Amino acid sequence: MISKFTIAKIMEDARVEDVVGEYVVLKKRGSNLLGNCPFHNEKTPSFTVTPAKNFYKCFGCGKSGNAVTFLMDHAQMTYVEALRHLAKKYNIEIEEITTEVSNEEKEKQSLAESIYIANNAAQKFYSNFLLNTEEGGIGLAYFKERGFDKATIEKFQLGFSPDGQEVFTKYAIANSFQKDILIKAGLTSEKEYGTRDFFRNRAMFPIHSLTGKVLGFGARILKKDEKAPKYVNTAENEVYHKSKVLYGAFFAKQAVRKMDECYLVEGYTDVISMHGAGIENVMASSGTALTIDQIRLVKRMTNNITMLYDGDAAGIKAALRGTDMILEEGMNVRIVMLPDQEDPDSFVSKKGAEGFLDFVKTNRKDLILFKTSLFAKEAAGDPIKKSELIKDIITSISKIPDPIQRSVYCKELAGHFDMQEQIITVEVNKIRRKKTDTTETPNYTTDEKNVLETEHQKQTEQATSNTIELLERDVLRLFLEYGSWEIFVDENTKIHAVNYLTDELEGIEISTPALQKLYALIVENTGSNLINNESYYTTHPDPEISTTAIQLLSSKYSISENWEKKFKIFVPEKKHIFIRDIESAVIRLKQYHIFNQLKMIEAKLKAEQAKPEEEQNLEEILKLLTAHSTIMKQKKDFALASKTVIYNPNT
Ligand code: CTP
Ligand code: MN
Repeated sequence: MISKFTIAKIMEDARVEDVVGEYVVLKKRGSNLLGNCPFHNEKTPSFTVTPAKNFYKCFGCGKSGNAVTFLMDHAQMTYVEALRHLAKKYNIEIEEITTEVSNEEKEKQSLAESIYIANNAAQKFYSNFLLNTEEGGIGLAYFKERGFDKATIEKFQLGFSPDGQEVFTKYAIANSFQKDILIKAGLTSEKEYGTRDFFRNRAMFPIHSLTGKVLGFGARILKKDEKAPKYVNTAENEVYHKSKVLYGAFFAKQAVRKMDECYLVEGYTDVISMHGAGIENVMASSGTALTIDQIRLVKRMTNNITMLYDGDAAGIKAALRGTDMILEEGMNVRIVMLPDQEDPDSFVSKKGAEGFLDFVKTNRKDLILFKTSLFAKEAAGDPIKKSELIKDIITSISKIPDPIQRSVYCKELAGHFDMQEQIITVEVNKIRRKKTDTTETPNYTTDEKNVLETEHQKQTEQATSNTIELLERDVLRLFLEYGSWEIFVDENTKIHAVNYLTDELEGIEISTPALQKLYALIVENTGSNLINNESYYTTHPDPEISTTAIQLLSSKYSISENWEKKFKIFVPEKKHIFIRDIESAVIRLKQYHIFNQLKMIEAKLKAEQAKPEEEQNLEEILKLLTAHSTIMKQKKDFALASKTVIYNPNT
């Protein structure tokens, strides 16, 4: 492992403008450098490199980072590869250290490592068998017939498995692989009569991780055979988790970022044919319903998913599974039904890339419109069915976090079925409220209203749904920006802002997952007197920390402007005083938590009181009432305190 010391040195010496400059043409603009963003398509440059802070930020797509994360994101290097690359570039000698890892951890790691090595050897074996043996020629002819050219076959590392009992297993054991590992990798099965190759006489499709390692295989039978399944796939093991993988993700990631869109298809062959035609931003769910992990995998690259499915009933069903989850993630999902009897593979082969994309662009519909038009046909003349379908669509709409988008869809749905928009909006809100009351971390529109209750009675639905995240980002941004500044807590005592902040936030947990690690580090550093300045975090060796820090710091204006526009009350003067910023950010966050707690207690009370009298739990009610009054008191104290802080012009 590279030592911490070396990493720190690399982070210190690496110049973001040098590194980015190797890939992007940059022009000087004031103290910054400007270029066309490599992460999305643009004609007017909005990709800004700030040498003084050693980071970049695109004002078009929001991507930001430092020299290391740039190499990881753009040049597709792993973290360690990026560090080694930079060390070489800046002539930094790498100090390696051996780390203490628990035995269990080591075993797990080495098992996973061994499986990767075995898979890698198997992939090479099957590819070699495909390309260089007579028997493999059957496979090669098959791929050619399907229209895969040599380059495509090589790129996807396709192969063919021999027909014998244990041709691969014997080869592997002769090459010093342990039988035990081959079995754990799912390459070899153990039978009563001995070992047997798991994949036999099939076209082999290696399944790659995001960084290009072989996780497992899908294997297709060539002849039609009623008894044998068309595909057999590697079983779940230490490294292969079907629900977390999208086939083709490794080959698609750069194109997905660049096009800011990901096509989702069903099969291995759909992915490969589309690549062959030059459409590279495509991944496959491998014939199963989308999972939340797969959706989040895409979300790391883009917010826009377009699903391409066969035009038959099964295709439609498949397309609709998992789509509400995409909406829930705040992503956009569009659906394209291909003509009857076509799948993306056959259709792109027939039409070519241009014709294919033309069709996609003219026929894609976003999920809500898709359902609306699909169901309209189905439900015509059947009122019961119609109301069921409307309810289904309303549920989908309720999943969308963005209130503006929600209201647009309510309007459209109303128009489409000739109903009052009001009714639909009310239903959507009902579902959302139900969710808010029953889950522990509620969805925020109604709470948002509460945060601002006193000031902005009317401002409800327009507010963003991720209030808590905005609040937490704001506070963390202030930590980074002002942590090392000093604050007078009384006439004679000065403390660092970071101490003030951590004291104030004691007992409050940061709920946004992306911020937790950074916050933990900040808190850890307050005790040890470590440097709390911006660049400590923006060049932190852990890329998760540094990118979060950069994001926060480069979004500071938009965040505070946001608050200012929406909730004028909190920023009374144009000229910001940092103490005031800090205090009001803390207050907003605390207020939010207080209101949240109150809401929760009130909901529980309501539920309890709604029961018939003999079933009510008096003890519980009393407990809730006590908690309620405690928090009400806090709220009152708090309102008093915050008034003075915010409005006293002398502070
Ligand atoms: N699949 C599977 N096991 C099966 C059938 C299908 O794992 N028994 C998965 C595979 O990932 C396959 C996808 O579901 O790629 C889609 O299935 P299908 O359309 O039948 O396969 P294609 O890959 O399109 O195969 P082909 O075009 O060769 O018929
Ligand atoms: Mn197919």
